[in-house]
Amino acid sequence: MLKRIDYDDRQHLVYARGRALPPDVVAAWMAEFARHSPSRRPLTVLDLGSGTGRFTPALAGAFGGPVYGVEPSARMRQVAMELAAHPSVSYLEGSAERIPLPGDGCDLALLYLVIHHVQDLPAAAMEIARVLAPGGRLLIRNAFADRMPDPLWHRWFPRARAIEEELFPTVAEVTDAFAPAGLRPVALTSVRHRLAAGRADYAARLRLRANSVFEHLTEQEIAEGFAALDADLATRSDPGPVEEDCDLLVLAR
Ligand SMILES: C[S@@+](CC[C@H](N)C(=O)[O-])C[C@H]1O[C@@H](n2cnc3c(N)ncnc32)[C@H](O)[C@@H]1O
Repeated sequence: MLKRIDYDDRQHLVYARGRALPPDVVAAWMAEFARHSPSRRPLTVLDLGSGTGRFTPALAGAFGGPVYGVEPSARMRQVAMELAAHPSVSYLEGSAERIPLPGDGCDLALLYLVIHHVQDLPAAAMEIARVLAPGGRLLIRNAFADRMPDPLWHRWFPRARAIEEELFPTVAEVTDAFAPAGLRPVALTSVRHRLAAGRADYAARLRLRANSVFEHLTEQEIAEGFAALDADLATRSDPGPVEEDCDLLVLAR
């Protein structure tokens, strides 16, 4: 059983820098989210597990707001309020299991790299179904244990894959958890997403360890991983942008 990661401990110090995305990548995600959303505007959006607000202001721009960024970590919320303020966005304390919003009020809910952190998935499913309006959509962007991606960094940190296989749910585990709450799967797509301009940029961001999987590795594994990465970078020419295939699971109420 892997330990629960508290973003108030360390991740809040590095997340915004280590996980920053260029505007065109954020815009591409908004277009993908719009493809799976009701077409009318404005939409009320819940960014559940909004973290440092990486997507929250863009959601307001794309869907016309209001947008609620609900996040359990006070320090992640603080960063969001400093770096990702927007007139249509409110950052609120809460979690997937306890959403501080009235019933039936949200047209769209986004869980971006959050579902594997949720401790009580059946309770979260009921709570998300409660706040989604009839016809609303839930967008779950995550890796799934039965569709494991092959990210570049795993080659230097070999135990990361086993950790992620334990950490991530399968697609069926997620859809089964949401079925009793009345949410049904309507799409499962893969989106190619640019993580970094090149290997050097990718390595510099990796060094910030803004990925909670690092919290499950030992300091020795981390030191060995970065030594292997450095050796690799020194001997190979940079092949250009680093990209990753990302799954997006869409459920409808
Ligand atoms: C990997 S970060 C993703 C943040 C943001 N969605 C993004 O993509 O930048 C995971 C976030 O989920 C939050 N989280 C952890 N447990 C949660 C829960 N039960 N409900 C909602 N959010 C949770 C963490 O505090 C953290 O901010």
